[in-house]
Amino acid sequence: MAQLNYDEAIAITREIHWVGFHGEPARLHCNPYLLIDEQDVLFFDPGSIPDFPVIMRKVIDLVNPAHISFVVASHQDPDVCGNLPVLEDIINRDDLRIVAHNNTIQLIRHYGLRSTYYPVESHEAKLTLRSGRVLEFLHTPYLHSPGAIMTYDPKTKSLFTSDVFGAVSDNWSLFAQGDFLNPMKAWHQTYMPSNRLLSRCMERIEKLEIEHILPQHGSILEGAQVQQAIAYLKALPCGVDLAAEP
Ligand SMILES: [Fe+2]
Ligand SMILES: [Fe+2]
Repeated sequence: MAQLNYDEAIAITREIHWVGFHGEPARLHCNPYLLIDEQDVLFFDPGSIPDFPVIMRKVIDLVNPAHISFVVASHQDPDVCGNLPVLEDIINRDDLRIVAHNNTIQLIRHYGLRSTYYPVESHEAKLTLRSGRVLEFLHTPYLHSPGAIMTYDPKTKSLFTSDVFGAVSDNWSLFAQGDFLNPMKAWHQTYMPSNRLLSRCMERIEKLEIEHILPQHGSILEGAQVQQAIAYLKALPCGVDLAAEP
């Protein structure tokens, strides 16, 4: 694969772009993504305040921020939506919608947001864009928060997986290469609550047709890597499975 320039936004598909911050010393990279549809632009897990200047520069290289109509917040963590108040000021649209599960909305409203929320569970876990394209949401409770969601885009067969499929490593690459499973181990064992929940989630998503797994940390998985990672996480003990008895 040609060397990618992580100082620029990187196209995953024609419509989906990585706009993350790449810091050499960082072992944990955050991956915000932009989905540019015909008349709507969606921003997935826009990220943190420290990364914001770089993220926003990459967004502006691709779109006018005023064209962003939806921000999808997979859960409430600061690395996912710490920059939301600043972002919504820059987008500056009265009709901006923050898409999340209600268990997340109850918490992210404390960031002091003014936009209208789109609680996914009140919309049959779907969002229809103005083009007619339909995005589907999967509620993945406790992976790793009560309102955590994934977003499935059937058009590109992409699954935005939030913290699930995340990874930590010294040799980060945007697209997974080499031994991509081992860097996922410590992340899931620390941040995911149990194999019972994780394996059930894997059983749900293995029924989907997936060409791209787009996690909020770590590397993008494609092709055969998708099923390899699902099988790996299905069998991985984590969280309470490993906790010592008090
Ligand atoms: Fe998180
Ligand atoms: Fe995260």
